[in-house]
Amino acid sequence: MVSVKKVYLDNAATTPVDSRVLKAMLPYFENNFGNASSLHQFGLDARVAVDRAQKKIADFFACSKAEIYFTSGATESNNLAIWGLIQRLRLDQPGFQPHLIVSSIEHDAVLESVRALAARGLAEVSYVPVTARGVVKVEKLVAAVKANTVLVSVMYVNNEIGTIQPIEKIGATIAKLNRKRPQKIYFHTDATQALNYCDCRVSHLGVDLLSFSGHKIYGPKGIGGLYLKSGVVLEPLFFGGHQQNNIRPGTYNVSGIVGLATAIDLIGASNRQRENQRIEKLRDRLIATVQREISGVVLNGDLVKRSPNNANFVFRGVEGESLVLLLSERGIAVSTGSACSSGSLEPSHVLAALGLAPELAHGSLRVSLGRFNRQTDIDYFVTELTRAVKRLRKMSPL
Ligand SMILES: Cc1ncc(COP(=O)(O)O)c(C=O)c1O
Repeated sequence: MVSVKKVYLDNAATTPVDSRVLKAMLPYFENNFGNASSLHQFGLDARVAVDRAQKKIADFFACSKAEIYFTSGATESNNLAIWGLIQRLRLDQPGFQPHLIVSSIEHDAVLESVRALAARGLAEVSYVPVTARGVVKVEKLVAAVKANTVLVSVMYVNNEIGTIQPIEKIGATIAKLNRKRPQKIYFHTDATQALNYCDCRVSHLGVDLLSFSGHKIYGPKGIGGLYLKSGVVLEPLFFGGHQQNNIRPGTYNVSGIVGLATAIDLIGASNRQRENQRIEKLRDRLIATVQREISGVVLNGDLVKRSPNNANFVFRGVEGESLVLLLSERGIAVSTGSACSSGSLEPSHVLAALGLAPELAHGSLRVSLGRFNRQTDIDYFVTELTRAVKRLRKMSPL
């Protein structure tokens, strides 16, 4: 069999575990396997590891250790933030009907969570549109605020088109509104795609709650966290043990927690600015070459307010899914915004929110670079992409 070069350009879907993260985790499977709640030495050793991890993570977010909660990932963190807050406020104020605001390009872990609340009559929801370049306009968000608004949830970096949302500006605006309102508006951001590239100091951002996940930052899958500002009270989603102030009970995933903290520490310790510049340079060359070599190509999202690792294209007359499959045969991993549901290709809600015509949205291709990509990967990808687009256009000329 001919061996095919392997190029992974789907880092927004998940990242490989950094070998330094794996090395830090391994002892917690074998020798230091204790339950962090046990009183004996095995338990104490595990407890120390959890405490240290919490401290490292708190340093990254510039918050206190007690404000970091561990979850199974960003899906759970988003659900805990949204459902936990709404349920708590409803219990505190019987008969109160809360209103919340989200952007129309949130990840499904936020969108489905608020839809589920609305479907059960537990909250009213407003969806704030984005510009054609995929950025939330703060004025539109302010216009959606009502007397019963209790929560605004806007993601930091969009997972499909990589747009960076004005979180700091939204945080400052909400703080200003809160000075004149009896009902506080809480601010949550899903920062899952932001940790590698953006400033995540919570007081700088003005957020009350922030979700993150291990497997997008070269850490393990199945572990994530929620920053919960001191004084913000959530109703738990799970009931059982008394870990994590009863807010998220369950035995600590010690190896996962150590992996998450090591991954976060590596972002902080590495020169983020230099790494961002390196990835951005690769990405910009990729975009320039694709635009030069292939006709009928559009770049989705904003040119400037964009995560350095993301490129999202539309190729006229080509279906994204066919491209992904052809490229996969050549050892390349990328993804598409179109999802095949019930036999027909549905463009993603993100591309629809940009106002892209459905026939264009079907040709979208997301390329997300990461720590381990080099120029040779980009060269190989562009050559194969050019061939694949030509081949598909020949097969079904529109
Ligand atoms: C923006 C965003 N939020 C939430 C999630 C869900 O994260 P997890 O896989 O950790 O549950 C993802 C993962 O795709 C994401 O990109």
